[in-house]
Amino acid sequence: MSTAVDDLGAQLIAAESAHVAHNYHPLPIVAARAEGVWVTDVEGKRYLDLLSAYSALNFGHGHPAILAAAREQLDRLTLTSRAFHNDKLGPFATALAQLCGKDLVLPMNTGAEAVETGIKVARAWGYRSKGIAPDAATIIVANGNFHGRTTTIVGFSDDPVAHDDFGPYAPGFVHVPYGDADAIAAAIDENTAAVLIEPIQGEAGVVIPPEGFLRRVRDICTENDVLFIADEIQSGLGRVGETFACDREGVLPDVYLLGKALGGGILPLSAVVADEDVLGVIRPGEHGSTFGGNPLASAVGLRVVEMLASGEFQTRAKALGEHLAQALQGLVGHGVTAVRVAGLWAGVDIDPAVGSGREIAEKLLARGVLVKDTHGQTIRIAPPLTIRATEIDWAIEQLRHALS
Ligand SMILES: Cc1ncc(COP(=O)(O)O)c(C=O)c1O
Repeated sequence: MSTAVDDLGAQLIAAESAHVAHNYHPLPIVAARAEGVWVTDVEGKRYLDLLSAYSALNFGHGHPAILAAAREQLDRLTLTSRAFHNDKLGPFATALAQLCGKDLVLPMNTGAEAVETGIKVARAWGYRSKGIAPDAATIIVANGNFHGRTTTIVGFSDDPVAHDDFGPYAPGFVHVPYGDADAIAAAIDENTAAVLIEPIQGEAGVVIPPEGFLRRVRDICTENDVLFIADEIQSGLGRVGETFACDREGVLPDVYLLGKALGGGILPLSAVVADEDVLGVIRPGEHGSTFGGNPLASAVGLRVVEMLASGEFQTRAKALGEHLAQALQGLVGHGVTAVRVAGLWAGVDIDPAVGSGREIAEKLLARGVLVKDTHGQTIRIAPPLTIRATEIDWAIEQLRHALS
């Protein structure tokens, strides 16, 4: 369908597609500024952001407290590498460890790096602590997973677009159906080092496992001396109305993988968080990153953790999430076949009779609402946690029109 892209926008899109590799298929909007939940394009048209950069903007665009932390740090010290200590990493790690109820933090940059780090930690723990035979360690993963785009990670993706033609793939991963605790129990053997799952699968379309699944995974891992690694990169840090999606079942995983919103929507910052007996297996020189734990990212991350420690954003996400869920339920049978909602995070399955997920996303764009489709018929809604109820109502009204 045609979406109104003005001349300047069209020129910029043409320049981008001429010189940027075609690894994305963006919607035709060229953003120039943003504040809070609103994005402004190059021609001054405003859009309500219901994607939040896949949850990296949980606190909205340009949150004043996060900007202030970044600005103050920019003028003081931005990078040391981990060859030297800096005065921000310790306070950041202390605050994040406390938020997670764990001992240690290993800072990285992107989400995929946190996942790769988690895999290395699980394998090293398997050999050095559990006593798995050399090179025999396996990790149980779920069908429909999305953990990033690096070569090891895409090797255990079952999405052909992410996976195909990027082999040979790293061995050592065992697949089970998502949400099936019995399948996890059956897949465990003496070589199993870890179970790696998203507590809610984001890219799969906000797929919420059956009630009690996370508790059973916790118990199964404990009984079998296997690490429970929770990839909370998209689900964590307030999105679901709790600090972590695992909190919905009162479950503490052995390892948290965090990213996205940890960087406050300003810079990439990810982390692996675990207790000393797990993360302590990594020795100097075995893992690292030039930018991981840099003082600028640490200052931003510290501010983000301080904001989450107040519980204000989690409470907001829970209350407004109920509002969002109720509004979306009203669309089922009216162009929507199913909705799944956890806090301010929703997967909305579009009835093929009214169009594809992409077509509805384009119609919403024309109406001033930003969302993104996933897996054909689903659109994902994940606004900044600072959104107001009236803005949700307005967005749902636009969705109702787009579906009609
Ligand atoms: C659950 C999960 N893990 C890992 C990643 C990878 O994060 P990044 O894109 O920062 O590498 C994503 C990204 O969407 C994700 O949703």
